[in-house]
Amino acid sequence: MRDLVVRQFEHPSGFLGRMAGWIMAHRESNLRRNEWAVSLLDIEPRHLVLELGCGPGIAIEQAAKLATEGRVVGVDHSELMVRAASKRNARAVQQGRVELLHGTARTAAERGERFDRVLALNVLQFFDAPQETLRLLRRSMTPGGVIAIAFQPRNEGATDADARRGAERNGALLTEAGFEDLRTETLDLEPMVTCVLGRA
Ligand SMILES: C[S@@+](CC[C@H](N)C(=O)[O-])C[C@H]1O[C@@H](n2cnc3c(N)ncnc32)[C@H](O)[C@@H]1O
Repeated sequence: MRDLVVRQFEHPSGFLGRMAGWIMAHRESNLRRNEWAVSLLDIEPRHLVLELGCGPGIAIEQAAKLATEGRVVGVDHSELMVRAASKRNARAVQQGRVELLHGTARTAAERGERFDRVLALNVLQFFDAPQETLRLLRRSMTPGGVIAIAFQPRNEGATDADARRGAERNGALLTEAGFEDLRTETLDLEPMVTCVLGRA
């Protein structure tokens, strides 16, 4: 049963997907991870922010509190998660400050907007060709814009060493995709969360 729910984190749907979405929205460590990752982005009031794989929209809610005169766009390939994120951020959606899209990185990129900040939190590990996605995202960012790729391994028995290996992999992917000025931050949870930041 646990495995079935865990698999749902990649593409939540149906009853088990709702369980996964509930965990993402209520688990203390997930809330802290989202809040921390958003805080690393130095979001300014007029920024246009993108979150790839926004799940139930926890980071979107945090980012919208900072981008008060800008806009926050969330994209997720799970219809269930888009609905959950829309419900959580209903007021900001109504005010036009948050937009939630059903789709992938390409869906966001094809809008032709330039994002100042991009966040991907526990999502890149699900991609078959993450470097292509990162290249696409870089082309959709303002020069000097900041991307944050956060990762906390969630498999049973995961360790800080797994989190560090994830950060190394994400750093290499960001470099390959042309991002510069990379730095890695960590959050002391069990296991630790890593976040690699880079500039477009
Ligand atoms: C583990 S959840 C993390 C959700 C959120 N970022 C958080 O940390 O609370 C991964 C999310 O990414 C979405 N996702 C996975 N692959 C995706 C893709 N290729 N394009 C868009 N969304 C994707 C899933 O549907 C899911 O909502």
